[in-house]
Amino acid sequence: MLLISDEKTLSREIDSLRKSGKLINFIPTMGNLHLGHSSLFKKSDNTDEIRVVSIFVNPLQFNDDKDFNNYPRTIESDKKKLLAEGVDVLFLPDAQIIKVVKFALRLGHIGRKLCGIDRSGHFEGVAKIILKFLDLIKPDFITLGEKDYQQLLVIKKIIKDLKIKTKVKSCPTVRDKDGIALSSRNKLLGKKIFLARYIPTVLKQITLEINEGSFELQRLNYFRDYLEKSGIDRVHYLEILNENNLFSISKLPCMSRVFIAISIEGVRLIDNMRIESKLACSSNGILNVSPK
Ligand code: PAF
Repeated sequence: MLLISDEKTLSREIDSLRKSGKLINFIPTMGNLHLGHSSLFKKSDNTDEIRVVSIFVNPLQFNDDKDFNNYPRTIESDKKKLLAEGVDVLFLPDAQIIKVVKFALRLGHIGRKLCGIDRSGHFEGVAKIILKFLDLIKPDFITLGEKDYQQLLVIKKIIKDLKIKTKVKSCPTVRDKDGIALSSRNKLLGKKIFLARYIPTVLKQITLEINEGSFELQRLNYFRDYLEKSGIDRVHYLEILNENNLFSISKLPCMSRVFIAISIEGVRLIDNMRIESKLACSSNGILNVSPK
């Protein structure tokens, strides 16, 4: 595994690896690697690709210094895991990398919804670092997880808007035995991790009720209350939205997801679950599964 921290060396090495004719797959991370990341590193069948992983805790996407300082950093064990996965290149930029990232981005509605409401500047920070990486690496693919679904949509949008050639691959969320989505932040919860179990429970219950027939959007208030009474400090949002554009479900049937963000003792957790049938919404706020 090549370990690179200098931008020029990275571009040069990638250029020479590309000459082998193999495709370049880029997997950006902030480290503290877990099994959710491993699913992103797995080679797709029949592809002999070069896998480039970055580890960088990006200050531009944190709007709270405490959150940035507390973000778990486990670089030595991360390196061992990447070696075991057979990753080809590990890019470990230093803090200077963000100095040159100075441009304004328009993320539109996708950037303003859900986490965009109370994490001002977060997605702009993600988009800026990803654009910087894409410019340096020029990968054929970028691989991202569906747990950060809004981030996935933001990155797809900037790639499309800026006509970048990189294709986006996405991987389903990996969950532990209790259904909790794997996340580096789970570690920060300590014994309070049991409260995180309410998230998959609620998401599954909502998708189940929807699939059983009609679902009143007002019922989401019941689930918000239920979560807050269970000991979760705050439900930032619990919403069912069109999975392509994060607009509310309208009369036109669309594929959708339930999205949630909560905080437990100041640790913010997000998750989402796909609803496996097309949904339409009537004027009185009732969601219906549309006939296939
Ligand atoms: O999902 C993450 O870990 C980060 O937001 C990313 C994509 C590596 C950008 O810093």
